Amino acid sequence: MSRPTEIQIDLSALKHNLQQAQRLSPNSHTVAVIKADAYGHGAVDIAKALQNDVAMFAVSSAQEAMDLRNEGIALPILLLEGCFSVNELKAAYLQGFEVVMHNHCQVGMLDSVDSSQPINVWLKVDTGMHRLGFNESDVADVFATLASNKKVNKIVLMTHLSIADETDDVFTQHQLERFSRSYDTVSEMTSQSIETSIANSAGIMGWPNSRSQWDRPGIMLYGLSPFASNQSNSLSIQPVMTLTSKIIALRTIQAGESVGYGNTWRASKESVIATIAVGYGDGYPRNAKSGTPVIVNGQRAALCGRVSMDMLSVDVTGLTDVTLGAEVELWGKNLSANEVAKWAQTIGYELVTRLPKRLPRRIVE
Ligand SMILES: Cc1ncc(COP(=O)(O)O)c(C=O)c1O
Repeated sequence: MSRPTEIQIDLSALKHNLQQAQRLSPNSHTVAVIKADAYGHGAVDIAKALQNDVAMFAVSSAQEAMDLRNEGIALPILLLEGCFSVNELKAAYLQGFEVVMHNHCQVGMLDSVDSSQPINVWLKVDTGMHRLGFNESDVADVFATLASNKKVNKIVLMTHLSIADETDDVFTQHQLERFSRSYDTVSEMTSQSIETSIANSAGIMGWPNSRSQWDRPGIMLYGLSPFASNQSNSLSIQPVMTLTSKIIALRTIQAGESVGYGNTWRASKESVIATIAVGYGDGYPRNAKSGTPVIVNGQRAALCGRVSMDMLSVDVTGLTDVTLGAEVELWGKNLSANEVAKWAQTIGYELVTRLPKRLPRRIVE
């Protein structure tokens, strides 16, 4: 038997989640965000599963986009951070990538390309996140420069929401108002109608006014709620990734005895401790506290002591049918990665995205 630790990727859950996004925003084209190896789910597998049902993909770099092209993905791909060099812009022209432009340097790169086939540019407006994008006061000038350049085909006006995951925070409304002003400004400059892109998952699920021609769902496709607190409509999405392992050792310890490195957890009574073949070397967070939930043979149990590189310990006292080789779920179908993440002071996005190559990945339909 080989080490029993693996990731399962459920493609039917992925397709279900896409349908939920499209049902909420039926007039939008879907730009499926599959950067960072599709948030750790395997970009090529995810792209192949979605390619007939979405309009395009979005990734963070030309390299990520090339990796998809090399695997035969033919849909348009949006580079969310745009091009980092003229060579990347040339590759974007050749490969049919669409590019975000968020600074003057990227606009200037157009002078150095020689193209018969104009490219689609996503002009990014900074509406308050202050990460990427042009200030509202620059948008008209940049739009005019791009619109008069024959190497540019369509211009999509876009922005990114910084706090849409908190549905009672008015800041998102302010961002939408700022974006709307930029939209009005550029609309007055052209006879063509301007397409827009605003919504991420939290926008699609929680801010109907942010839905537009091009929505950019990421985390919701993978079945994780983007919201800080529970939302009724997040119940309709299903986890795509499940991380499982098995019990590889079982022992009974006496009250007062400790478990794991640093002896940080002590049994308050006679306890049964299971050792599971998964650790921080498999992407399980080392700073998950004692008490973090784990599913053992279908029952909730609690992590005890420090997480090691390849193993962790769970207090299985009182659980039924706990034997060597019993199935353990670290997160997935029965336990949200978001819940585990809270115990480790992080977010589900981080847990799923940072899984190492050594974990075997199994696709299930
Ligand atoms: C520009 C942009 N759009 C969309 C997304 C997707 O966001 P989410 O995964 O929260 O849906 C991201 C992710 O970080 C992003 O950076």
